[in-house]
Amino acid sequence: MKIHFLYGTETGNSEILCDDMQDELGADVTSRISDMGTVDPADLDPEEFHIVVTSTYGNGDLPSTAVSFSDALAETKPDLSGIRFAIFGLGDMVFAETFAQGSKTLMEQLLACKAEQVGERGIFDASGADMPEDIGVPWLHGILALLQAKAA
Ligand SMILES: Cc1cc2nc3c(=O)[nH]c(=O)nc-3n(C[C@H](O)[C@H](O)[C@H](O)COP(=O)(O)O)c2cc1C
Repeated sequence: MKIHFLYGTETGNSEILCDDMQDELGADVTSRISDMGTVDPADLDPEEFHIVVTSTYGNGDLPSTAVSFSDALAETKPDLSGIRFAIFGLGDMVFAETFAQGSKTLMEQLLACKAEQVGERGIFDASGADMPEDIGVPWLHGILALLQAKAA
């Protein structure tokens, strides 16, 4: 299996979580990590499974490194049939009205471009006692189990 992690971040937490998730993968999995800001969604590879990790900033907005990816989805509407993804959002319930909105926005944009979502959107709340990896790593294992079940 090949996994491509894509992170959108303002202060680095989403990138660190991708590193932590990558460390959890077995030896039979090839993976790479990209800043979403360097990726054109039209270039996503159907041979890879995509794990999208993004925070929320401003007032329910996407963080700076996710903006160009999101804008490209909105403006060029690439046909992402055959692209599979799972998505994990970092947010803070202090911002209750816009909690994890960035990941919801990106999820809806990917679905609108016909990408196929695997599993439920994972969400981390920075206002709790947990670290992102406490929630993100078990979520990742759930996604991997779903992928294995689909492949069997
Ligand atoms: C200025 C500011 C605005 C934020 N706005 C939101 C928001 O609207 N909704 C939300 O759920 N979290 C919001 N957050 C919380 C971040 O999403 C959270 O701290 C996250 O862990 C940051 O991850 P990152 O370092 O990958 O950007 C905000 C944080 C800051 C500092």
